[in-house]
Amino acid sequence: MKYYDRLSIELSRPGRKGFGLREAPAGALDCIPAYLRRESAPKLPELSEPDVVRHYTMLSQMNFGVDTGFYPLGSCTMKYNPKINEEAATALEGVHPLQKAHKGAAAVAEGLDKALAEITGMSHFTFQPCAGAHGELTGLMIIKEWHLRRGDTARTKVIVPDSAHGTNPASAAVCGFHVVEVKSTPEGLVDTEVLKSIVGPDVAAIMLTNPNTLGLFEKDIKEIASIVHDCGGLLYYDGANMNPLLGAVRPGDMGFDVMHLNLHKTFSTPHGGGGPGSGPVGVRKGLEEIADSVKVSGFHGNFGVMLRAYAYILSLGRENVPMAGRLATLAANYIKECLKDCYKLPIDTVCKHEFVFDGLLEPNGVSTLDVAKRLLDYGFHAPTIYFPLLFHQAIMIEPTETESLETLDAFIEVMRRIAEEAKEDPELLHTAPHNTPIGRPDETTAARNPILHW
Ligand SMILES: Cc1ncc(COP(=O)(O)O)c(C=O)c1O
Repeated sequence: MKYYDRLSIELSRPGRKGFGLREAPAGALDCIPAYLRRESAPKLPELSEPDVVRHYTMLSQMNFGVDTGFYPLGSCTMKYNPKINEEAATALEGVHPLQKAHKGAAAVAEGLDKALAEITGMSHFTFQPCAGAHGELTGLMIIKEWHLRRGDTARTKVIVPDSAHGTNPASAAVCGFHVVEVKSTPEGLVDTEVLKSIVGPDVAAIMLTNPNTLGLFEKDIKEIASIVHDCGGLLYYDGANMNPLLGAVRPGDMGFDVMHLNLHKTFSTPHGGGGPGSGPVGVRKGLEEIADSVKVSGFHGNFGVMLRAYAYILSLGRENVPMAGRLATLAANYIKECLKDCYKLPIDTVCKHEFVFDGLLEPNGVSTLDVAKRLLDYGFHAPTIYFPLLFHQAIMIEPTETESLETLDAFIEVMRRIAEEAKEDPELLHTAPHNTPIGRPDETTAARNPILHW
């Protein structure tokens, strides 16, 4: 173990500090009520400034991010976060939500609302939700309220395809709906015949992402919209997969009534440990007032994220936004075509921004997990694995538009080398990764019983 690989608490030495603060003058703290005061000092590590800097720099080097390498995590749109976004976000960092109307902040909210409405074909966005799943819940609350305001209390069901992201059924259940699954066809699309047999006066909505989680465009979307609308239900668009559609097709034009966007995916703001994210919800004409009445977070949502997204849209400009979607689609199809002679491609068709392999063509006992772990040795983040659940050895690859041809080629070369290794030396893959700070942690125990304190 290297010296700075230790925890900060292990590096701590009594009395060591990296700051100098004057003692508070006598009586200065009298305004703080006794019940809010500590009885003893907090047990924080005592460290010098270089110790702190080295400790956190060491931790950052154990991590992997879009600033350190290719991150083809399907369904997550890990595109590069341009640094100009960060500059824009710091420009208004002093604004406080309780201060009187701030013209600059109001202009950002209004401008972003207009831009997103134009991109999606919706009428208005609320920026309250702080993540995609939070947006789903908010959107469903809007839908529920719309039915209730019309006195239609019988709509208790939400339809979700079997290919949906897990947050869709979870959000519907949290919102108090009964979830009904609709099966996909062998081509991976919503089966409209099955859908017709499910809809009825008890259906509040269908939740769809398009392109779906297999990266396939739901080409029957107009028919799906008619089937659901004709029974009195609404269409909810999970906009997590909006990236390839930028400037090409708009959810509003496909017939969706309510939707969310993941600003931290499509609009290049940072993902990060579950936040800060932003999942603004857009609604069609007639639902604006309900959308604004639903409060799911404090103040105006994650304003810093909105600034970053607005900077991204303005720096691309109206003429370049569509290029992002097209290049993301081209990159995904390029990787798919270059690897389909080594990896099993269950649905061999033109994809949008991502696609799914079902393990190696000649596995020789090597699993998708082994392939993913071996990729780490070569300096690439692994794609999403074992999702969607439709295939047992799913490897879901989403390169995004921000990668150069050279990076895509380097990834393809490594994926092909791993396919060769599987034939020649499967043990090398079963025991991968070999070059990372840790090998194969017990992921189930880490997720179920994490030790979060020292
Ligand atoms: C298709 C889809 N829907 C919804 C979500 C949920 O978004 P978030 O992680 O911001 O809650 C994701 C996230 O990966 C997704 O891929």
